[in-house]
Amino acid sequence: MSAISDARVALVFGTDTGNTEDVGEKICEQFAGAGVAVEMVNIVDIDSQFFSNYDLIIMGIPTWDFGGIQEDWEEREDIITDADLNGKKVALYGLGDQLGYGDYFLDAMGWLHERVLKVGATMIGYWPTEGYDFEASLGCSEDKSYFFGLAVDDDQQFEQTDDRVNRWVVQICQEFEAAAAA
Ligand SMILES: Cc1cc2nc3c(=O)[nH]c(=O)nc-3n(C[C@H](O)[C@H](O)[C@H](O)COP(=O)(O)O)c2cc1C
Repeated sequence: MSAISDARVALVFGTDTGNTEDVGEKICEQFAGAGVAVEMVNIVDIDSQFFSNYDLIIMGIPTWDFGGIQEDWEEREDIITDADLNGKKVALYGLGDQLGYGDYFLDAMGWLHERVLKVGATMIGYWPTEGYDFEASLGCSEDKSYFFGLAVDDDQQFEQTDDRVNRWVVQICQEFEAAAAA
């Protein structure tokens, strides 16, 4: 199965104030426009078996309190560490504030990236750091050239979110098909 239109896709998010859910809805709308239905769920409503039903899993996580992990994700860390993501494509998106928390921008996305890799995920959807201004992040590569997923800053760059989401969904559809065909 290599066509995105045949893929079973889920989006799992955690949120404190709703932004990560809002962005999740935008991502789902973009997929719907491409003819792909996405099952969107809150991390509080699943267990580690959930992932077995899907080919592509999108995960959304915001960073809180100086590099902290959003609490629902943190409390349910074992959902990820107990999962088997071998053969699964995984794409992350993170929410943060590059001006207010520029030393910890999107750190939680780095936390999640490390954990999904350990349980076998094939990553897609890395995203360039161009156009962002931050000091440090655990959510990007050491050379600061790319994030481990889509970087969304609804606090400082809200006006760019829709365009970023749209471009990212196109990118992950292409990468999904390329990785599936490889
Ligand atoms: C008290 C507080 C602490 C925050 N800490 C961070 C942080 O360490 N790193 C970061 O990138 N963003 C930080 N943020 C920004 C949030 O991640 C951002 O507002 C995000 O959109 C919240 O997503 P949510 O509504 O899904 O919870 C913080 C925001 C607040 C209000």
